[in-house]
Amino acid sequence: MATYTKPVTTTEMFKKAYSGGYAIGAFNVNNMEIVQGITEAAREMEAPLILQVSKGARAYANHTYLVKLVEAAIAECPNIPIALHLDHGPDFETCKSCIDGGFSSVMIDASSKPFAENIEITKKVVEYAHDHGVVVEAELGTLAGVEDDVKVAAEDSSYTRPEEVEEFVTKTGCDSLAIAIGTSHGAYKFKPEQCTRNEKGVLVPPPLRFDVLEEVSKRLPGFPIVLHGSSSVPQDFVKMVNENGGKMPDAVGIPEEQLRKAAALSVCKINIDSDLRLAMTGTIRQFMAEHPDKFDPREYLKPARAAIKELVKHKLVDVLGCDHKA
Ligand code: G3H
Ligand code: 13P
Ligand code: ZN
Repeated sequence: MATYTKPVTTTEMFKKAYSGGYAIGAFNVNNMEIVQGITEAAREMEAPLILQVSKGARAYANHTYLVKLVEAAIAECPNIPIALHLDHGPDFETCKSCIDGGFSSVMIDASSKPFAENIEITKKVVEYAHDHGVVVEAELGTLAGVEDDVKVAAEDSSYTRPEEVEEFVTKTGCDSLAIAIGTSHGAYKFKPEQCTRNEKGVLVPPPLRFDVLEEVSKRLPGFPIVLHGSSSVPQDFVKMVNENGGKMPDAVGIPEEQLRKAAALSVCKINIDSDLRLAMTGTIRQFMAEHPDKFDPREYLKPARAAIKELVKHKLVDVLGCDHKA
């Protein structure tokens, strides 16, 4: 059995995920409890893992703290490969700083730029990254929702155009490609009027565009595809937030069966952040409501970390299908 001592690239894990019909979970990390909750789940489930850090995470927690937390997780989980990935790198400089600073994978997100400019920026990042043994995720198409300080309205989002993907991948040399097929960032992925209601009154969003995914995969056989904005916004956690002083009306995510279907196709990486935030916030809110006298952060962060661990286990096993694949 292999023993891992540093962040790995995603090359091997994507190859196996593609041929095995499953996906790797890419979870956003912002502090120690989130790192611990995710990695304890992956260690127990023997699942390969991507820990990702956004520009906002670096601004909040500091690059060095996050890298050291991930290094600590790797030391604690030598049985599983862990990639350290920059999520939504906004420019060459940020990608370079992460490549120079210990990351094994970066995303350059120039998806809001015109096609030719996206190619130009992505190619520059790929050249630098590959020279340093780091892999690159790029994006074509625009997701609705909020990421860092960029807010894309639903009407300004656009599905990936399959006829562009071969030229983009060939000209940039990127290692994986994020596409837009109807997912979006955050806990409010769809307006209630875009959804129907099921028999329990729960909002059901419009289905993902599997026709676009299949057309992309036909044009890029064997190439790893990435899905952003893939939180499912579990209604139990929304209820927990709302019953304990929160206010999250009509929060709705991507049904897990659809993510499972995508994972069985060419999607090798599925990004989940909002669900972790909901699990953490719901659990802390409930703890605070039930224990108004407590003020030791360890007492409310402990159940929050445990909730993240349980949620991640469920994702690894029931949604991504990547357990026991390390
Ligand atoms: O895609 C966005 C991720 O959820 C990261 O969010 O930019 O608030 O850290 P953030
Ligand atoms: P969610 O907001 O759906 O969790 O998406 C996270 C993401 O795409 C991070 O890049
Ligand atoms: Zn994203």
